[in-house]
Amino acid sequence: MDVPDSVRNRIEVLRETVSHHNYRYHVLDKPVIPDAEYDSLFRELQQLETSYPSLITADSPTQRVGAAPLKSFAHVTHRIPMLSLGNLFDDTETEAFDRRVREALGIETVEYAVEPKFDGLAVNLCYRDGILVTGATRGDGYTGEDVTLNLRTIQSVPLKLWFGNTAEAIPAFLEVRGEVLMLKADFEQLNRQQRDRNEKEFVNPRNAAAGSLRQLDPRIPAARKLGFFAYGIGAYEGSIPDTSHHDVMEFLALCGFRVSPERRVVTGSGGLNGYYQHMAARRDGLPYDIDGVVYKVNSLVQQQMLGYVSRAPRFAAAHKFPAQEMETQLLGIDIQVGRTGVLTPVARLQPVFVGGVTVTNATLHNEDEIRRKQVRIGDRVVVRRAGDVIPEIVSVVMGKRPADTREFIMPEHCPACGAGVQKLPDEAVLRCTAGLSCPAQRKQAILHFVSRRAMNIEGLGDRLAEQLVDSGAVSTPADLFLLDKAVLSGLERMAEKSAGNILQAIIKSKETTLARFIYALGIRNVGETTARDLALFYGSLDRLMAAGTVSLLQVPDVGPVLAESITSFFTDEHNRAVIARLRNAGVCWKESEGKTDGSDNADNAGMHAVSGKTFVLTGTLSTLTRDEAREKIQSLGGKVLASVSARTDFVVAGADPGSKHARAVELGIRILDEADLLSLLQVPHVV
Ligand code: IVH
Repeated sequence: MDVPDSVRNRIEVLRETVSHHNYRYHVLDKPVIPDAEYDSLFRELQQLETSYPSLITADSPTQRVGAAPLKSFAHVTHRIPMLSLGNLFDDTETEAFDRRVREALGIETVEYAVEPKFDGLAVNLCYRDGILVTGATRGDGYTGEDVTLNLRTIQSVPLKLWFGNTAEAIPAFLEVRGEVLMLKADFEQLNRQQRDRNEKEFVNPRNAAAGSLRQLDPRIPAARKLGFFAYGIGAYEGSIPDTSHHDVMEFLALCGFRVSPERRVVTGSGGLNGYYQHMAARRDGLPYDIDGVVYKVNSLVQQQMLGYVSRAPRFAAAHKFPAQEMETQLLGIDIQVGRTGVLTPVARLQPVFVGGVTVTNATLHNEDEIRRKQVRIGDRVVVRRAGDVIPEIVSVVMGKRPADTREFIMPEHCPACGAGVQKLPDEAVLRCTAGLSCPAQRKQAILHFVSRRAMNIEGLGDRLAEQLVDSGAVSTPADLFLLDKAVLSGLERMAEKSAGNILQAIIKSKETTLARFIYALGIRNVGETTARDLALFYGSLDRLMAAGTVSLLQVPDVGPVLAESITSFFTDEHNRAVIARLRNAGVCWKESEGKTDGSDNADNAGMHAVSGKTFVLTGTLSTLTRDEAREKIQSLGGKVLASVSARTDFVVAGADPGSKHARAVELGIRILDEADLLSLLQVPHVV
């Protein structure tokens, strides 16, 4: 078929443009056009290629996915073996490594190229005249599996080497080595999807990446979002930088590969250990897992002089971080009762050194999780501890399951107070139903109240909170402000000086911010960010306490569930009393105007006369049924209760009211007739 030049040219331009934006997005992480614009360029290219199939080439960005599934993988022998690295486990071993290098080279100081050790799987990509021809796994280092079709689906694997290079600069043949991995965020998303589909979850991003790359159907890795980081080259024909590893990496970046922005050049063992510390601190914040850092002698001439010993280079080494996952034995499962009554199963473990500390407990989250992971008491389990995150059981090592394991069954009663437990619809967790009369919940509520990000009462830790609750000295956060030296000093192992310090810290904490105070209250689902949003929106605690659902839904990120937690917290009499006592004790903060200007209907609803108020209905209404009246009041943020108390704001009396009316008269509570109620329901603002 005759192809007009204009089409040929347009296809060429589109390929370059789409590849360029792909590169900006997947390699540099710096997209410059919106996704929709990219999609439309991509579609235009696809349409032209469909109309003129003779113009399709393997390096076109449309040709990443779509190949038919394979029956099996072919084997590929690497031209240059893919060796492994010797491991270093501490600073002394690093110093010894540097000494060996210096002695072998006969020089005083050595320059090293240092980079993260990606926790993925090594692959080798072969480019012939700048076009990707094959890609293989490391395998045993000498022979790997041909996973070209799968590697082609990875957007950060260039199908064609071209950026920053002229055609002449591209070597006739080039092997690029690097690591395939899955970003932590993509891993979480994949596992969420697996859960939703009732399919098995992956243990960690490395396993997910490995599992995806070994699929015979390339549509699977294509859907799973893998990434590729280049860290070196293998065999090549033609000219490439021959001075330093650093220059090779710059060259790879120019070819269009994603290379680590964390790489540096340092000197001596001081530089190596400094880099190790630097990366150890950055580890948890990186978007991908790393399991250490790699040190490489920077000069390529020196690398050659040093050569190899058995299967590892003498010029490079991996300095490993403490493993974040380790195997141990699950000795038993305890139940912990949290601040909001959630019963959390906690694994008691044979102590194990993981993530840099000795771990004896790990969370099992909830009952569903135990069932999904098929955890039984006595199992061999993999424990993970990353950064500050609570250690968790990742999986059971089924192959090592002992014969005498036992199934774990969640209790029917709260282990702390004996009250019944319930599972709310749409929740995976069991909760103790006793609320703050459960000592475990009280303790946790107080611990949360005093915690650093809440009221920040220094020196009041777990043990002391426990003692205070157990001794009966404190049963609500407000009691903390009534403590005196005598009570504190009377506690076991409490020196007078520490008692004084704690009292000082309690006094100091009284002056706080509205956001901290809201967070400290421990309202279910209200974390620090929501507390901050609420403080900003309402500016005053009274306004927040009076806010109804409609108003709360105007606050950024507040949805119906959160709004319900907040309104039910503030209508609870016990909570209101604790707040009043805290304010009476002198807990204070600066208030502001907030963002509720009352200018639109929704905000008006929040400030509606009904909002935050408590109603009791009695007698027969003529224009509304009781249910309609209740719904109307609740929709405006009011609460309808069954009996009259001193805290009732209004009693609505219809015809033939009962004893509730008499009680309201007795307590001096405002009584509304039906007309009053109807006008109140329509009137925003002050009554
Ligand atoms: S260089 C001679 N650099 O670590 C081997 N390897 O134990 C040269 N790895 O299988 C490898 N990040 O998969 C090198 N920045 C990095 C690396 C890295 C991860 C892996 C690689 C290799 C293993 C070596």
